[in-house]
Amino acid sequence: MIIVATLAHEILAEIDLLNSVTVDMTCGRGNDTLFLSRISKKVIAFDIQKDAIDSTRALLQEHQRDNVELVLSSHSESLSYLPKQIGAVIYTLGYLPHGSKEIMTHPETTIKSLEDTLPLLMDGGICVIVVYQKHDGNEAMAVKHYCSNLPSKEYDVLKLSVLNKELSPYIIKIQKKKNSDS
Ligand SMILES: C[S@@+](CC[C@H](N)C(=O)[O-])C[C@H]1O[C@@H](n2cnc3c(N)ncnc32)[C@H](O)[C@@H]1O
Repeated sequence: MIIVATLAHEILAEIDLLNSVTVDMTCGRGNDTLFLSRISKKVIAFDIQKDAIDSTRALLQEHQRDNVELVLSSHSESLSYLPKQIGAVIYTLGYLPHGSKEIMTHPETTIKSLEDTLPLLMDGGICVIVVYQKHDGNEAMAVKHYCSNLPSKEYDVLKLSVLNKELSPYIIKIQKKKNSDS
């Protein structure tokens, strides 16, 4: 069975992030934040729900991780919390597992956040978006459309999806090109 969260982590681990700040734009229950805290220097993690921030804090304490800044705020406001350069960023779209299905990510705020954040990626830096089509098909379409139109001179953009299972979650990987790349 393909587990998209595991695949997303494998993609983030492709590059050396040990000296970089990374960002979890939707920390939820903290699984992505915990992973990033192990492979990077510092993580800044956002969520709009206190329940999510509290869950993430508890998971980090359980695993004795102390290199994470948790921010109870929308990722559309993230710019004021971020340094000038980041190594990697992850968005896991949709709603909080075991939480309210009424509170979920939205295309407008997700795309605003991508517009703000992608320019901060270091050369070779990676943005991973985990898209749950079943949570919100409109957001999935809008995000895919936005990513498809990113300039190919600046970014490599890949979509990784399961071909033989309808509406399964998929991953969009955006990698900032190095100056030397064509
Ligand atoms: C699918 S969950 C994330 C799962 C999480 N990464 C994990 O490892 O458990 C999506 C999360 O996005 C959060 N969210 C929704 N809109 C948001 C926004 N505008 N800014 C930040 N977080 C948001 C929700 O509260 C929810 O916790």
